[in-house]
Amino acid sequence: MSDPDATIECTVTIAGTGSYVPEKVLSNADLEGMVDTSDEWITSRTGIRERRIAADGQSTSDLATEAGKRAMADAGIEPGEIDLIIVATISPDAFFPATACYVQKNLGATNAMCFDVSAACSGFLYAMQISRHFINTGNRKTALVIGAEKLSSMVDWEDRNTCVLFGDGAGAAVLRRDDNGGAGRKILSSSLGSDGRQTDILHVPGGGSACPITPDNADQKLNTIRMQGREVYKYAVNAMRRAVEDALQQAGLGASDVDMLIPHQANKRIIEAITERMGIPPEKTFINLDRYGNTSAAAVAIALDEANKTGSIKAGDHVVLVAFGAGLTWASTLVQW
Ligand code: UT7
Repeated sequence: MSDPDATIECTVTIAGTGSYVPEKVLSNADLEGMVDTSDEWITSRTGIRERRIAADGQSTSDLATEAGKRAMADAGIEPGEIDLIIVATISPDAFFPATACYVQKNLGATNAMCFDVSAACSGFLYAMQISRHFINTGNRKTALVIGAEKLSSMVDWEDRNTCVLFGDGAGAAVLRRDDNGGAGRKILSSSLGSDGRQTDILHVPGGGSACPITPDNADQKLNTIRMQGREVYKYAVNAMRRAVEDALQQAGLGASDVDMLIPHQANKRIIEAITERMGIPPEKTFINLDRYGNTSAAAVAIALDEANKTGSIKAGDHVVLVAFGAGLTWASTLVQW
């Protein structure tokens, strides 16, 4: 399949990355005291050992701002150089204004246009591709793309099916136009998709216009995450594998060319199912979900930053980012680091 989102020859690079996770650690042992679960169940079914929880008063935009500052420092740019800020999130500070506008205020990035993207766990890669378009068309030169979540604010802490899975955090990347060529870290291709027939298998049913929270339903916790785990699991494996293959094919590459796969960090078993089918070995797969759990739109962004800062990806490597989430949505991005 050709890239339906491609515009002109790609000259967009990842100039810097950053991430931030809150200090508070919630371990599997802590959860054993909250719901009927065990460290053994959580570790063997998901690979998660602990997750981070935002402090009281710390909002999604606070996490996003810190990650954004670190990405700007890595890229060596000043707030005034940013002309686009996109925050991917399903846990915005408020329905409106956009969380990106709060980040703009916090950073003093007064020259930026700002908006949020709602594509759940795929959101960071959707936002990267949107930024790529803005930059490719010449409209914008420097974008700050952030995936940030405070999922602890929308988890039912009495539901063991979901509360053991999620965590808080933020990751960011600075995307820039490369006018000189040869700077590296170029985005080569991307593959995005959605299946709106599957909206009900992973969602927050209440709190929006379709089902406002009222005194009559307030006790039903309709503003918390509901998931049919097994259905999502099966869909995730196939959709992410196809998305990776599509991005590689667009660049004339195959699975054996992948130097590092940076997948959505929802479940170690999902990641292993994909990599085993594609023949990508564990040493070429980046996993940090044991420390952070599933941070939705932030997950790939945090993992990319850690892979970058720890030297797990090197100049020239073919790096594939891939994600999957509510919508359902999926996305992949191939970068030559
Ligand atoms: O990020 C967005 C995308 N999300 C995902 O990709 C998540 C996809 N799904 C998954 O990762 C997995 O389906 C889960 C980790 C959510 C669940 O794993 P599973 O192997 O599919 O387990 P299950 O839901 O089929 O549940 C198996 C059993 C059930 O008990 P019975 O019915 O067999 O008696 C559950 O009630 O495990 C039980 N269970 C638990 N037991 C202890 C469910 N949650 C827990 C828990 N602790 N926390």
